[in-house]
Amino acid sequence: MKDFFKKLPEQAVRVAVVFLVFVAVVFVIRQFIIPPEMKEPALQQASSMEREVAKEIQYAGAQICEQCHEKEPQIKKIGYHRDLSCESCHGAAQKHVENPTEVKPTSPKKRDYCAYCHKYNSSRPTGFPQINPDTHNPRKPCITCHNPHNPKPPTTPRSCAACHAQIERAKAASYHALIACSVCHTAPEKHKTSPRTVIPTKPDKREFCGKCHDKGSPRKGAPTVDMAAHGEKYVCWQCHYPHTLGGI
Ligand code: HEC
Ligand code: HEC
Ligand code: HEC
Ligand code: HEC
Ligand code: HEC
Ligand code: HEC
Ligand code: HEC
Ligand code: HEC
Repeated sequence: MKDFFKKLPEQAVRVAVVFLVFVAVVFVIRQFIIPPEMKEPALQQASSMEREVAKEIQYAGAQICEQCHEKEPQIKKIGYHRDLSCESCHGAAQKHVENPTEVKPTSPKKRDYCAYCHKYNSSRPTGFPQINPDTHNPRKPCITCHNPHNPKPPTTPRSCAACHAQIERAKAASYHALIACSVCHTAPEKHKTSPRTVIPTKPDKREFCGKCHDKGSPRKGAPTVDMAAHGEKYVCWQCHYPHTLGGI
């Protein structure tokens, strides 16, 4: 046996020693250092459940407020903010629910809070009510004119840009800048107060654009094309989107 080791080249012995040390280290790490939860999926699940359950509950949920507050949920249900939960404005309120008289939730009374959702941002969906906080009745808190639980504007919005600001801005930089929205869309007044129940019209035929752009059109100032040959059978806005022409 001794001879056998003697016969081995010295390097092989070293490699063997290094290998044994490596195996020993791996064994020690696996056995004693890595916690059992990291090796056993069942243990891991149980321990993360335990950890999450031990966390303090912060939010009370969307339903519970109604149990003690009658008025605000009733008002909110019928208004524009019906889909916002109470805690999205009043903050995490579990502590308040547990101890209503001692712990009071905050009420966001400053302008910048409302602006968080309503400040103009071109990535918001078309039709979402947006304002420019610097020019929209500056300095007064929003809640002097809008009830936060039913923020119906005190008067009907004047312009289409109130909710279609992105289109308004694109159009302002296009060839159609001087053509009012109402030339191409018939929007009943009620669309401005219940936008999803009354939908305005949209042009649906090539001839609509032809009113100004047909080569025989009596209108002055608009470049004309031969409607019969130009763009063939396609509707014009498949190639020229009328809000963005020549603009962005
Ligand atoms: C167990 C009953 C109870 C529940 C549930 C409850 N509240 Fe209250 N809340 C109260 C009471 C009582 C007051 C204090 C009224 C007072 O001071 O006159 C109060 C006051 C408030 C106030 C006014 C704070 C102030 O400064 O005057 C707000 C805002 C409020 N609650 C929001 C909520 C929200 C949001 C929820 C749901 C997450 C909720 N509450 C759930 C009982 C409750
Ligand atoms: C869009 C944000 C917003 C939402 C959503 C909201 N609130 Fe409020 N709430 C406010 C603001 C802002 C005030 C402060 C109003 C004021 O001082 O005139 C307030 C005030 C209150 C008050 C105190 C009323 C008082 O007379 O002092 C209660 C209670 C309350 N809210 C409960 C609720 C409940 C319950 C819900 C959910 C049904 C809810 N709020 C949803 C913004 C909101
Ligand atoms: C978490 C986002 C959020 C916050 C914060 C918020 N709102 Fe709203 N607001 C909405 C949504 C969503 C609508 C409904 C939009 C719709 O019907 O398409 C809305 C609608 C409105 C409208 C209706 C405009 C119209 O003519 O259609 C007004 C006014 C308004 N909010 C004012 C406020 C005020 C004032 C505050 C601050 C107290 C506030 N909002 C805070 C999300 C928010
Ligand atoms: C002095 C009263 C007053 C104040 C303060 C006020 N608004 Fe208005 N708001 C109105 C009126 C009036 C309208 C409807 C007419 C119009 O279009 O300007 C309106 C309309 C809106 C609309 C619908 C879109 C529009 O342009 O018509 C939104 C959204 C809105 N307000 C949010 C806010 C927010 C957010 C604040 C605070 C940063 C705020 N308002 C402050 C009076 C006010
Ligand atoms: C109070 C907010 C608001 C005002 C003000 C408003 N709209 Fe809208 N508009 C909407 C909403 C919300 C939609 C639906 C968007 C959706 O379903 O994606 C819409 C949809 C439309 C559509 C598309 C209809 C369709 O079939 O897709 C047109 C066109 C339109 N509005 C034109 C106008 C014109 C023109 C004005 C001004 C006279 C105007 N809107 C004022 C909120 C408004
Ligand atoms: C020169 C005619 C013209 C003018 C001016 C015009 N539109 Fe349009 N609009 C159209 C056409 C065409 C469509 C597309 C119809 C389709 O896709 O079926 C459209 C589509 C829309 C839509 C639905 C699709 C989208 O892009 O969101 C809305 C909302 C809308 N317009 C609002 C407005 C508003 C608000 C104004 C004024 C700021 C305006 N339009 C000005 C012709 C016009
Ligand atoms: C009320 C008249 C009117 C209507 C309706 C109208 N336009 Fe125009 N359009 C104009 C005018 C005026 C100009 C030229 C503006 C300028 O040169 O400053 C123009 C410019 C254009 C241009 C740019 C041409 C160039 O020089 O590159 C195109 C493309 C166009 N319109 C397409 C359309 C389409 C598509 C429709 C239908 C959805 C439409 N227009 C509806 C009046 C109209
Ligand atoms: C298949 C795509 C396509 C369709 C559909 C289309 N156009 Fe065009 N249009 C173009 C192109 C490309 C140009 C620029 C080259 C040219 O002058 O032919 C143009 C140019 C124009 C011009 C500018 C002409 C000038 O003298 O400056 C007008 C106005 C115009 N189109 C209106 C329309 C109207 C109105 C319709 C619907 C009846 C329409 N287009 C349909 C692709 C199209």
